[in-house]
Amino acid sequence: MRTREARRAASPPEGAEQTSPALKKRKAEKKAVPLPVRRTPINTGASIPVVQFGTYRLKGGACRSACRAALQGSYAGVDTASVYANESEVGKSLSCRTRDELFVQTKLWRSHQGSQEAVSKALTNSLRGLAQDYVDLWLMHWPGPGRHLHLPPVRKAKPVWTSGEREEIGKNGETQCPAEWTPAMRLETWRHMATETKGDGARACAIGVCNFSARQLRELIAFCDAEKLPLPAVVQNECHPYLPATEVRSVCAARGIVFQCYGVLGSGVLDLMGDEAVREIAAELGVAPAQVLVRWATQLGENVVVAVKSGSAGRQRENADVFGFELSKGQMGRLGGLSRQREGMNCMLGWLREHDPDYY
Ligand SMILES: NC(=O)c1ccc[n+]([C@@H]2O[C@H](COP(=O)([O-])OP(=O)(O)OC[C@H]3O[C@@H](n4cnc5c(N)ncnc54)[C@H](OP(=O)(O)O)[C@@H]3O)[C@@H](O)[C@H]2O)c1
Repeated sequence: MRTREARRAASPPEGAEQTSPALKKRKAEKKAVPLPVRRTPINTGASIPVVQFGTYRLKGGACRSACRAALQGSYAGVDTASVYANESEVGKSLSCRTRDELFVQTKLWRSHQGSQEAVSKALTNSLRGLAQDYVDLWLMHWPGPGRHLHLPPVRKAKPVWTSGEREEIGKNGETQCPAEWTPAMRLETWRHMATETKGDGARACAIGVCNFSARQLRELIAFCDAEKLPLPAVVQNECHPYLPATEVRSVCAARGIVFQCYGVLGSGVLDLMGDEAVREIAAELGVAPAQVLVRWATQLGENVVVAVKSGSAGRQRENADVFGFELSKGQMGRLGGLSRQREGMNCMLGWLREHDPDYY
């Protein structure tokens, strides 16, 4: 460890030009003029930023400073979730922009599926955390219980919720689904979420879902049509060249629903940025692999937007700086050829989606 004197001796004298590459980079980032925010319309008449700032895995002070940097920089919106346990940190950064400019989205966790009371309480808790009167978008985080249901390990496609053999799994604490969960409960949950969009003082301006399979989404749309409930404004699902979510995207496009991709950079799990084709295309265009991936998503269709996370101001800017170039048809085709998606699969990042009893 260096002593305070040694550190002082190593640093340039006061007033001298400080030229370390890291410092130069930080100064350049501070000076950078924020990029204009692109938006796309949603079915409520509002609009959502095409590149939204993601906050998964950001906690505490690091979350606060990353959100502040993003909102002072090139982002006008933030995606969080009650289960990220960072809503209060996100909330503290929101004063960086006027409320009208901002697009704040959060999610209802599985434990709050069910009654109107449970659903509304989830929103109350999120709004309290965010210190907001309303959110621009409120998403149902998961269609089903995953491994959080009080059930023995769920086997693929086996309708275990009808068997009555339920047992406490434990250790899931506050995060588990209600024990009486059935697939019908997610539709009732949607009905209750919809009540929060009504009236002038609505606490959720728009609602949507995440991680729904194409079948689950069609079922929800049919329910909305039959019950005269609002369609989802946004579907947020994993989507990147290895898992391009083609079927879910086309269900969304057919009904005017915005599709928001998450995990476009691989979420620190898949090495998409190291993929040979991605790197080649980045070199051809003179941009970073991350920019190729974000740009790819925005070129999938007019209804496609992205949520992308970085703790670093420089990488945040890089990820938002994707509208000064375009992927050619050939480059889109090469990225399209990377798909490893099997039929019905809509999660590759390791959330054990197939543990849901009605996955298929
Ligand atoms: N609904 C859901 O179930 C769900 C699931 C997952 C995610 N999401 C949302 O979607 C957002 C985005 O997804 P994600 O955070 O999982 O993954 P992601 O955006 O695909 O990837 C984030 C990872 O990429 C790194 N990274 C970011 N920009 C980079 C760049 N330009 N160059 C190199 N590395 C870079 C980040 O590290 P650094 O931070 O160090 O830059 C981080 O490790 C989430 O934050 C969350 O808001 C929703």
